[in-house]
Amino acid sequence: MSRYNSSVLLLLLALALSESSVVLSKWHVHIVNGLSNNTILNVHCQSKNDDLGWHALAAEEDFNWAFHMNIFRTTLFFCYMQWKEVKGSFKVFSVDMGLHTICYDSVCTYRAEEKGVYVYNESMKGYLLVYLWP
Ligand SMILES: *[C@@H]1O[C@H](CO)[C@@H](O)[C@H](O)[C@H]1NC(C)=O
Ligand SMILES: *[C@@H]1O[C@H](CO)[C@@H](O)[C@H](O)[C@H]1NC(C)=O
Repeated sequence: MSRYNSSVLLLLLALALSESSVVLSKWHVHIVNGLSNNTILNVHCQSKNDDLGWHALAAEEDFNWAFHMNIFRTTLFFCYMQWKEVKGSFKVFSVDMGLHTICYDSVCTYRAEEKGVYVYNESMKGYLLVYLWP
């Protein structure tokens, strides 16, 4: 193989590896009940293939799970959330969400509060309001 061909091959290999880190990573999603007055947060998360069921979270309780992105990178999780008479459903994980900032180091952390749902953003080093309750 010529020197040219082997460097092209190396370049392609490097590209394939950087693209596939999204697929190779083990992703973790956390949902934390940040509501006041010991209000219970009910959470039901699912993807096309995984139904994680309903979970009743006490104050500051953390529901979390881990998974791999499918090779087509189409894995999408969403969660129904309900507290008192408030309910909503939100996308919590998909490849188009800016995973390098909101799922830094493969960990995505959501916090439900009275106003809406916040996600931890590593570039801001803080929580960002991403969903308002309907
Ligand atoms: C907690 O109680 C305060 C004062 O009554 C109220 O304003 C607030 O909405 C309550 N929060 C929740 C999550 O019920
Ligand atoms: C995270 O914060 C940075 C800096 O403020 C911002 O540019 C980026 O869009 C945020 N990410 C998301 C997914 O909102």
